[in-house]
Amino acid sequence: MSAPLLSIRGLVAAYGHIEALKGVDLDINPGEIVALIGSNGAGKSTLMMSVFGRPRARAGTIWFDGRDITGLPTHHVARLRIAQSPEGRRIFPRMTVAENLRMGADAAVESSEAERNASLERVFALFPRLKERIAQRGGTLSGGEQQMLAIGRALMSRPRLLMLDEPSLGLAPLIARQIFDAVRALNRQDGLTVLIVEQNANHALKLAHRGYVMVNGKITLSGTGTDLLARPEIRAAYLEGGRH
Ligand SMILES: Nc1ncnc2c1ncn2[C@@H]1O[C@H](COP(=O)(O)OP(=O)(O)OP(=O)(O)O)[C@@H](O)[C@H]1O
Ligand SMILES: [Mg+2]
Repeated sequence: MSAPLLSIRGLVAAYGHIEALKGVDLDINPGEIVALIGSNGAGKSTLMMSVFGRPRARAGTIWFDGRDITGLPTHHVARLRIAQSPEGRRIFPRMTVAENLRMGADAAVESSEAERNASLERVFALFPRLKERIAQRGGTLSGGEQQMLAIGRALMSRPRLLMLDEPSLGLAPLIARQIFDAVRALNRQDGLTVLIVEQNANHALKLAHRGYVMVNGKITLSGTGTDLLARPEIRAAYLEGGRH
């Protein structure tokens, strides 16, 4: 078994005196899709953002590709080709689709024009809708299109690790499925390693090779997606009567 691409050990992070992560261990192996599930306020977004140093680790270590990246400034982390689509998408509303995508490419290390064009073609193949909307301002896109743009922008930096925070939030089931299908294609066809944060535990665990459950700043359960989906405590807390 190869070494993990991302390895987090004993991570503690806080906002003032609110400790949002209380000693988290999590591994993502190369080529894996890992789902992080948990209810509101569990610390999922904080974990994702702490990889970028915001908030910074108060204790613990974050390793990427065998290198200790704990405490690295955010722009250095991006240069390692870790990309994220943050919660709430945060695309640039006044910029066009094309301009938003170019911003993603600019975040990357030394990409040639040929590499940028190849990334753009890949994004358009995954999300043909974005190609049709290329000159439209980001803020006028539908919610689903904005999510596609947020993922597309992250892909423009040719990431080795893609982190998605709640990509299906607020989307109609059909659009959410398109997003999950695109993530699956990126993983199967391009070998992309993915961390997906989701409240939609059903979809996320079906998509993921492995999953982690976070409760109140701690990982309480982990296992294969199939194992977690079958566990009664997961079904009770996140599936039956919960958000699907
Ligand atoms: N900027 C902030 N300042 C202060 N507290 C924060 C901040 N961001 C998050 N928190 C707190 O940290 C805890 C973890 O929040 P986080 O956003 O990581 O949860 P989450 O699992 O992503 O939740 P959700 O599913 O609602 O997105 C919560 O108690 C939250 O109130
Ligand atoms: Mg969140």
